[in-house]
Amino acid sequence: MPPRVDGHIFDVPPYIAAAAGSNQPLRESIGFFGRFLRNPTQIGAVLPSSRYLSRALVGRLDLAPGQAVVEFGPGTGPATAVLHELLPKGVHYLGIELDEGFHGLLTRRFPTLQFVNGSAADLRAILADRGLPAPSRIVSGLPFASLPPKAHDDIVSAVVWALRQTGGEFRTFQYVHAYGMRTARRFRAMMQERFAGFERIGPTIRNVPPAFVLRYWDAK
Ligand SMILES: C[S@@+](CC[C@H](N)C(=O)[O-])C[C@H]1O[C@@H](n2cnc3c(N)ncnc32)[C@H](O)[C@@H]1O
Repeated sequence: MPPRVDGHIFDVPPYIAAAAGSNQPLRESIGFFGRFLRNPTQIGAVLPSSRYLSRALVGRLDLAPGQAVVEFGPGTGPATAVLHELLPKGVHYLGIELDEGFHGLLTRRFPTLQFVNGSAADLRAILADRGLPAPSRIVSGLPFASLPPKAHDDIVSAVVWALRQTGGEFRTFQYVHAYGMRTARRFRAMMQERFAGFERIGPTIRNVPPAFVLRYWDAK
């Protein structure tokens, strides 16, 4: 009998979930897939990122006490787990997740971290509400290739506003198969206009599907 997720039955071949990362529980992958079926544009992926992609995405955290790191779209938390391990003492973490179900899961999975159920586009108001400083690092799991242009514009403006203050860095990933899509190219063109520094890492092939990590720094 396939596992039930929120009253629905999803039959995901275990090899697909296993291929996504050796330490991803099957239940988490199935729950993620269920969320994707309900809202494909917002979720933008069929499986959570693997540990390999999450490590490449997070990179090194050269942050000092009092600084902040913000994660956009943590989902079920694969990159959050890496951030949690690497987070230097005294560095603030804030995760902003639009999906209510994922938000609930994250607060249970990482009780010592702070999460908001809201949109990355509202970064400025969210930080002000919580009295948090502008982040020195933003790690994004947002599916820019499937988000509408208005979301690109609002989120990129919020990112530039924050990173101009701190001189910090933005990191995201894009799937190899979607890299050439018009929306993906539009996002990169906009970022390249707003940031002097850019590096593409990878692809990480131990992820379903394989993905590049993109780094941006020196916000203009
Ligand atoms: C491709 S999934 C990535 C999830 C996770 N980071 C991972 O790598 O497995 C995209 C996530 O972004 C969230 N999301 C989409 N639009 C968002 C927005 N405007 N603000 C915050 N989260 C958003 C979705 O709900 C989903 O959890």
